[in-house]
Amino acid sequence: MFEHYQLIDFGQGRKWERFGDYVVERLSPQAGISPTRGRTQVDVSWDGAQWRGEVDATWRMATPWFTLGLRLASGGQVGVFPEQFQNWHYIFERAIQADRPLKVLNCFAYTGASSLAAAAVGSHVQVTHLDGAKPNVNWARQNAALNGFEHIRWMVDDVMTFLQREAKRGNQYDMVIADPPAFGRGPKGRWQLHRDFDGLLDAIGRVLSDNPVAVILSGHDQKLPRAEMRRRAIACLAPLKIESAPLDLVAEDRKLYASDCVRLTW
Ligand SMILES: C[S@@+](CC[C@H](N)C(=O)[O-])C[C@H]1O[C@@H](n2cnc3c(N)ncnc32)[C@H](O)[C@@H]1O
Repeated sequence: MFEHYQLIDFGQGRKWERFGDYVVERLSPQAGISPTRGRTQVDVSWDGAQWRGEVDATWRMATPWFTLGLRLASGGQVGVFPEQFQNWHYIFERAIQADRPLKVLNCFAYTGASSLAAAAVGSHVQVTHLDGAKPNVNWARQNAALNGFEHIRWMVDDVMTFLQREAKRGNQYDMVIADPPAFGRGPKGRWQLHRDFDGLLDAIGRVLSDNPVAVILSGHDQKLPRAEMRRRAIACLAPLKIESAPLDLVAEDRKLYASDCVRLTW
């Protein structure tokens, strides 16, 4: 997909990926039962409970727009969701095309990849990075420092609480990015994407500026198919244009579905 990332193989409930200098083997329910291509040389692997193998503290993955610091994290995460690649490209290109000062809000922002894609355009793009987990925001701050990006505002908060507060204050954004988990735990109880999606759309609508550039939504919840995401986004946000696509990872000629995405423009 890009020089520092490659989906090498997948199948039999596992996937093999190269991030920078390391090949990582992880469980992947979406990989299905299809056979794999054969043996792959693995540096580190996640068996569902723990990591085996070691990586250097300076593990990095460069994209065309920014560099991320990676590490072996809980839950088999490494600090990046590479299927978001097409969204990083989209965020960067839309912000360039707008050719004006922009306010961008990245919700559920994790280690900051989408925040960095927007910040890479220049300091006239003011990015607010919002995530409920302080360790993830700290990781994102380190990633921003790695790229020398200083124009990002860091928020540790529940997304719905923050959006409601921003709407009350009259704070508005020209681009909103939201990549919520299917399930989660927030200060207001359990988050469920299919149940809470309408509330999220409504809250995003309340902080959109009068001249919005884009809203980028992604997620993976079997109870919220892409066509339904699209239908609800049109009903709530009335975009001028909407495009929807799966976010796939590609191994040579085979695709591994990872998530769904809907992008709205005005
Ligand atoms: C799927 S990851 C997002 C990945 C990110 N968009 C990326 O591509 O790097 C989900 C993130 O949402 C955060 N999160 C989950 N529920 C939240 C909530 N209610 N409010 C704020 N952040 C939340 C988690 O801490 C986690 O960092």
